[in-house]
Parts: sequence; C-alpha cells; structure tokens
Amino acid sequence: DAVELGRFRHYMQKEIFEQPDALANTLELVGAAKSVQPGLFGAEAETVLRDIDSVLILACGTSYHSGLAARYWLEEVAGVPCTVEIASEYRYRTSVPNPRQLVVAISQSGETADTLAALKHAKGLGQPHTLALCNVPESAIVRECALRFITRAGPEIGVASTKAFTTQLAALYLLTLAVAKLKGRLSAEDEAREIDALRHLPAAVSAVLEQEPAIQAWAEHFADKRHALFLGRGIHYPIALEGALKLKEISYIHAEAYPAGELKHGPLALVDREMPVIAVAPNDALLEKLKSNLQEVRARGGELYVFADAKVDLGTGDADGVHLIQLPEHYGKLSPVLHVVPLQLLAYHAALVKGTDVDKPRNLAKSVTVE
Ligand code: G6P
Repeated sequence: DAVELGRFRHYMQKEIFEQPDALANTLELVGAAKSVQPGLFGAEAETVLRDIDSVLILACGTSYHSGLAARYWLEEVAGVPCTVEIASEYRYRTSVPNPRQLVVAISQSGETADTLAALKHAKGLGQPHTLALCNVPESAIVRECALRFITRAGPEIGVASTKAFTTQLAALYLLTLAVAKLKGRLSAEDEAREIDALRHLPAAVSAVLEQEPAIQAWAEHFADKRHALFLGRGIHYPIALEGALKLKEISYIHAEAYPAGELKHGPLALVDREMPVIAVAPNDALLEKLKSNLQEVRARGGELYVFADAKVDLGTGDADGVHLIQLPEHYGKLSPVLHVVPLQLLAYHAALVKGTDVDKPRNLAKSVTVE
C-alpha cells in the first residue's frame, strides 16, 4: 500500500488529487476536435440521440448525484426533459414506459445490483434505448446497454467515490453537448467554447486542490459537531447533497443537504451555534437568493462556511460567524465539477480529525452487488 499511496495517507486523498488526471484522461476521448462526436457513446448513438424525446437517469449513491446535476444541463442546454430516479425505487414502482426515452444507467463499478435491476426493468417495460456510463469496461451494466461511455478515472479504491463522480460529470456534459448538437441547439461556435471549457477542467481542479490547507483548517471545527447542514441552489443542490453524503459516509457526522430556498420549510428550526452550515455559493442566477437564505442562518446564530467563486462578493467578508473560501475562478456551467472538490476535501479532513477509517467506513461497501 505504501508504494501505491506515495505521498498520500489514504486512497481517498490520493483519488481526490488524481482528479485532474482522471478528467484529462476521460476528455482525451474527445481528441483534438472542437466538436463532440456522438459516436463517443457508441456506433448507433447518432441515430438514437437524434430521436430521443427525453432522458431517464437511473443510479445509486454518488452516481445518483451526478445524474441529478446532469438534469440541469440536459434541460437547459439540450432542451430535453430529464428525470432522475434512485434505482432501488424505480425498479419497484409502476412507471409509464416511453420507447423514445434514453435510459442512462450511471455507475462507477457497473455492478451495483439495484442499478442493474432497474436497467433490466426499464428494458423489460419496452424501453430500447439504453446508455451505460461506467468506470469499468465490460461490467454487467455496460454489457446490458446498447450505448456506452467509459470514464477513465482509473481504479477507485476508497469507498467514498470522488474521481468517479467528477469524471461522470464530464461525461454527462459531453452527452449534453452531443444531444444539444443533434437537436440543433448548439452553434459550432458555442460547441467549440464548451469544449475549451471542458479542456480547462484539469487545470481548474488543480488550482482548487491547492486550497487544501484552508479547508483542512475548517475541518478542525467540525470534529466535535454532531450535525451539519449543506445548502446549494439550482445545479449546486446536487453538489450540496454530494457534500453531505461524503461527510456522513466517512466522518459519521450526520449531514443533510437542502436546496437553500427550502430552509424556511423545516431545517431552519435546527439551526444554532452547534450545527455548521456549509453553503455552495457560486456566482450564478441564484446567488442573490442564496445570500438572503444565508442571512436567515446568520440571524439564528448559525455558523456559516461558504464556498464561493472568484466573482462572488458576499458583502460580509470573513466576518464573525461567516467563514469564506473563494475558489480561484468563476466556472460557468461547469461550476458543479469544481465546487464538489472542496467538499470532498472537507469530508476527508473532518474524518482525519475524527480518526475514522477513511477508506473503509463502517458498514459500507465499495460496490453493493446484492439488493
Ligand atoms: C456504494 C458506494 C458509493 C457508490 C454507490 C453506487 O454505496 O459506497 O460510493 O456511489 O455504491 O455505486 P456505483 O458503482 O453504482 O456508482
């Protein structure tokens, strides 16, 4: 292990730091082109993606969160309705099949029993268009699908998924661009710009990783906390969900995520000095709304930990009760890929302070191959 881990203490930390390479390797599939070839998703992809009228994403755990984020892209950029379902729920509910829908199964391992069963259930209902988005080629889920995209994150050992998640997001963005293009919603100029933004991801993630010391310092404040609340809005709500999942999985601190506009419908009752509130606050259309949600937290004595981007002026500075880490850039549509990275680091360092078994958290498995 010592040789494999190199300068890192745990696989999770190593895998967090491998994200620039994992993304670069995954994006290599695009080649030098300024456009996305639908063939990246399989020989029949061009015909299938041109004809689909909606997308149904099936997944579990962290993979479910990448699906939730992709919904925002698919609807906004490609103009295609998208639903995202937890695989273990979908397989047991009566749903209305749609033969023109693309079913996307997202799975790091490609072996998760619930996701595989949900996929088979969809096919059994008469949904012929299936796409596997996996990190393991020739896994069961890949074999079950007509179309496929294999992320190149490399083997992920830590139970808490990190590099698989960000590479899934990159793949889902490529899918969004491919569908948008085939639906006539993406000009060549916009496409080239989006590809450039994707190519910038590895460097952008590297710059975010340099903020580890500041995040580590924050983590010290979390060790004696029993609960934490993560807030995000829009596409950053799934990122808040992922941040909460990471924290609970490996540090055993109970963490919940809410879209910040829902605060007033319940979680505000829990806010006090003992519950840190972590906010994902990039400069997007919802920033002003989010700021007023954060005021509500401050007014109740809640301690705020805010991850903003370079274009955000919170108006509070690093004031009493408001801790701020500003990411180096503003990332536009790819912002979720960057904002999840500090949340991964926060969970990792909180777990280190607590002394838990980071790579093998109690009661959890890397791949759940039974129901
Ligand atoms: C387990 C793992 C998670 C993972 C989930 C789905 O719960 O601990 O990290 O997100 O399974 O796994 P998959 O391989 O389908 O992405």
